[in-house]
Amino acid sequence: MSRKISIGVMGAGGIALRKTIPALAKAKNCRVAAVMDPMGAARIAEAAGTAKAYEKEADLWNDPEIEAVYIASPVAYHLSQIEAAAAAGKHILCEKPLTLNLEQARRAVAACRKHKVFLQEGYMMKFHGAHQIIKRFLDEGRLGNPTYLRAQLSCWYPPIPGVWRQDPRTGGGGALIDMASHLLDLLEFFVGPIKRLTALTGHLIHDYRSEDASTILLEFRCGAHATIDCFWCIPDEASRTRLEVYGSQGAVFTEGTIGQSTGGKMEAIFGLGGAAYNAAQNKDVVRRFQPIRFPKINPYRAEFEAFAEGILSGRPPEVNGPANALRMMKLIEAAYTSAKTKAFVSV
Ligand SMILES: NC(=O)c1ccc[n+]([C@@H]2O[C@H](COP(=O)([O-])OP(=O)(O)OC[C@H]3O[C@@H](n4cnc5c(N)ncnc54)[C@H](O)[C@@H]3O)[C@@H](O)[C@H]2O)c1
Repeated sequence: MSRKISIGVMGAGGIALRKTIPALAKAKNCRVAAVMDPMGAARIAEAAGTAKAYEKEADLWNDPEIEAVYIASPVAYHLSQIEAAAAAGKHILCEKPLTLNLEQARRAVAACRKHKVFLQEGYMMKFHGAHQIIKRFLDEGRLGNPTYLRAQLSCWYPPIPGVWRQDPRTGGGGALIDMASHLLDLLEFFVGPIKRLTALTGHLIHDYRSEDASTILLEFRCGAHATIDCFWCIPDEASRTRLEVYGSQGAVFTEGTIGQSTGGKMEAIFGLGGAAYNAAQNKDVVRRFQPIRFPKINPYRAEFEAFAEGILSGRPPEVNGPANALRMMKLIEAAYTSAKTKAFVSV
């Protein structure tokens, strides 16, 4: 059996316990060797099926068995933990957003470069089986020229006293940095670089300091337009996490592929190039969309396997490496700037 990279999980009680540690347990080339969490590390280690539970950061950095760390702590700790992990010679897979802002992200990337460790960021939605297929459809020209994309990720996130996400000083912002950043990443994966953007943020319903509403309007270098809508004040049952990708010759729609799941559903319509103008413009017709099957890829497992593969083969991350991490922070900052200035920002 091939070697498995031993990973230490820094901040293991949230998404790590719910999604990534179970995904890691199934990965073919890495494993959880220890967990660190200031709140109940022993309980988390037991659930993760690993013997080592640390409550102090330094114990993880000083553990010689640990070759790489997965950082899933609150965002305010990411920079100092990336710097410490890099200084200890550990490769790093850090959850998104990389840091609170672009200036911190530059410092994080510089620390990894200085200590010659790999840095990968957790924008894992690109690994989803449906999104891989959409990328292929676009690259093969099955939809014609991309014209418009719409991506939605919303939930109901009521005030919870003391929670880091609801305060920009510890989360970097609200719905925009936390959720819309995933979709900025996904849409650039589909159709290439964004050229300019403008954003609205708002405090529509909840009374915490972070924004609970964000809408971004985008123009890509390829010419396509897009909107991204991410709200923390839309009930979960009402938000269907829709993705719509339109081109000059067809379209692909998904529901439930954006988010933390492996599943969802997808349908597409192709081959509409050269259609004659229909002056009647009757929209009350049955569309000929066909269901599209896609491989059920756990995106968290896939991102870990790509990370470990890079370490095993000595190659820096091909997906979600430092350049992409800096790009995402640049786009996030541009969106917040635009929300303040009410102007388009070139990126
Ligand atoms: N990619 C995804 O799908 C996804 C989903 C959710 C969260 N995230 C990201 O994961 C990170 C964590 O989010 P979460 O929802 O799990 O948060 P959370 O608050 O639910 O969990 C964070 C964990 O970190 C621990 N912690 C607190 N302070 C710490 C410190 N100084 N050092 C180490 N651990 C500490 C907490 O005890 C807790 O167990 C964030 O960057 C978030 O954006 C990513």
